[in-house]
Amino acid sequence: MSITGTGRDRTKNAKLLAWVDEIATMCKPDQVVWADGSEEEYDRLCGELVDAGVYTKLNQEKRPNSYLARSHPSDVARVENRTFICSRKQEDAGHTNNWMDPDEMKAILKKQFDGCMRGRTMYVIPFSMGPLGSPIAHIGIEITDSAYVVTNMKIMTRMGQAVLDVLGTEGEFIPTLHSVGAPLEPGQQDVVWPCEPNIDNKYISHFPETREIWSYGSGYGGNALLGKKCLALRIASTMARDEGWLAEHMLILGLESPKGEKTYIAAAFPSACGKTNLAMILPPEGFEGWKAYTVGDDIAWIKPAPDGTLRAINPEYGFFGVAPGTAYKSNPMAMKTMEAGNCIYTNVALTDDGDVWWEGMDGEPPAHAIDWKGNDWTPASDAPAAHPNSRFTAPAGQCPTIDPAWEDPTGVPISAFLFGGRLSSTFPLVYEAFDWNHGVFMAATMGSEATAAAIGQEAIRRDPFAMLPFIGYHMGDYWGHWIKMGKNKAIKQKPGFFRVNWFRKDDKGKFIWPGFGENMRVLKWIVDRVRGRAGAVESPFGKMPRYEDITWAGLKFTEAQYHGIMDIAREGALSEAEAIKKYFENYGKHLPEELDKQRKIFKERAKDAPKVWKIAS
Ligand code: GTP
Ligand code: SPV
Ligand code: MN
Repeated sequence: MSITGTGRDRTKNAKLLAWVDEIATMCKPDQVVWADGSEEEYDRLCGELVDAGVYTKLNQEKRPNSYLARSHPSDVARVENRTFICSRKQEDAGHTNNWMDPDEMKAILKKQFDGCMRGRTMYVIPFSMGPLGSPIAHIGIEITDSAYVVTNMKIMTRMGQAVLDVLGTEGEFIPTLHSVGAPLEPGQQDVVWPCEPNIDNKYISHFPETREIWSYGSGYGGNALLGKKCLALRIASTMARDEGWLAEHMLILGLESPKGEKTYIAAAFPSACGKTNLAMILPPEGFEGWKAYTVGDDIAWIKPAPDGTLRAINPEYGFFGVAPGTAYKSNPMAMKTMEAGNCIYTNVALTDDGDVWWEGMDGEPPAHAIDWKGNDWTPASDAPAAHPNSRFTAPAGQCPTIDPAWEDPTGVPISAFLFGGRLSSTFPLVYEAFDWNHGVFMAATMGSEATAAAIGQEAIRRDPFAMLPFIGYHMGDYWGHWIKMGKNKAIKQKPGFFRVNWFRKDDKGKFIWPGFGENMRVLKWIVDRVRGRAGAVESPFGKMPRYEDITWAGLKFTEAQYHGIMDIAREGALSEAEAIKKYFENYGKHLPEELDKQRKIFKERAKDAPKVWKIAS
């Protein structure tokens, strides 16, 4: 190779060296730098980004070792309509994914990537999703021309030389390629946030059969930090199907009773529906002696273990959390995680004293700030100071409630799966599945609403398992995989399945349930259920706690209010059954027969219910 650079001598893995040379030949960077993951490297890159005007170093007393970045206003979130699953057969990607033939996509991408790193440095980032050397973990290599990506990957993954050491000369890795898509002509001045301006030229492409990721044109979040949604969900879900495990959009939480008994749950909620909140829950008043521990806030890899349990790891090393709405009153542990410093903030506002600010933070808004676009902002401004999808990148190990076992290479045993979305009517606060297949049905049909419109008017956007944007193959086959996992005899301790809904509203449009820390009351019932010591009654939806089955100490929530959140209108349940029938028709032969059976049973239960099914006491 004629291209200069550093670090190529740090591995003897022939396959890796050949791939890096091939990509360098195609992308034509000025130099190739292998990331070693050291603090010196991180400081040097952040310093270069500050010099280039990309990062602003924050007030070192308030936000030690922390930086702010502002993206281009066109590059602020994942681009679902430019995300592709390029399986050989279109049918294997399924109707919920964008598809393109892999050869056709490669031909397009090879043109895009040809010379796309001119004038830039090409970084090689070895990273491990999961604790280094864990049997549940997998190694990836990300090639990128973005130093912003390198510094974020240092927080979000275990990254650098240690990964190359584990990889060795023969080890397998998942190759992932990323470019912001903005080559520089000789002498051309760089911009602060380079990216491909034309949305039609952005491609977040996955090749499930060859396990490759090629991402072009965006520098933001899940489009660019390829270990996260691209590898740990889209590619990993296909690996999980082939190998008999689960790659899920789930937080992992450990709940310890006053007796010291620990129960782990994994919970799937669509994006921006409260995973980070629940992962860092603080038990409320009345729950003295209870402790909640965070294992992960976004992704879970779950495998059957030799002891008959299902064990989960958090493949990530940091949090990439939604900033707006995060406050001491809503999520104190997230705020404390950030207080420790070492964070990168993207698209939040900058205060005059070098601190960060976003909508929903505690206290008064600052009298003046610089907004996420770099303009002056005051509370009188029309536009928000922070972009609604602005994020903090924070080391998970800094979370005060991080679980002592969060890096256990064998994972933590999962006793319950929770599924939830934003549903303002009909759906109760919590209900339990009658069995595994019913649980899969509950998860496959879950949805969230964009508006407060009533059910039955197609207001629900179905987001099965919260995986709609993240499944790497046919959604119906994925449901089939879950059904098949339920039949796996090696899993002796099968977790319970629960649907939860923190978002039911009263007739004035206000949330009935206080939520946040108070969700612990629901979690305790779930823990007691899976441990076989709490009561429940059968409803059209599933098994539900009576008023007296919930611990109310420390909260005033009357039985009448409880009815407001637990009673089920037959009309609502019946129209849900009808909506599911239509929804399932899109799946054709990919719909597992077990799920259509569940639909019919649900419809019968709804039909037989009284006009308003009232929770007994
Ligand atoms: P991604 O990182 O995009 O996957 O999202 P996430 O699921 O981690 O979302 P996050 O925790 O950032 O969601 C935050 C949103 O959910 C905010 O608008 C919160 O106010 C809201 N939220 C979280 N928990 C509750 C709750 O118990 N009740 C109510 N009403 N809102 C909640
Ligand atoms: C999500 O959208 O579910 C996220 C943010 O967690 S991103 O990493 O950008 O996908
Ligand atoms: Mn997410």
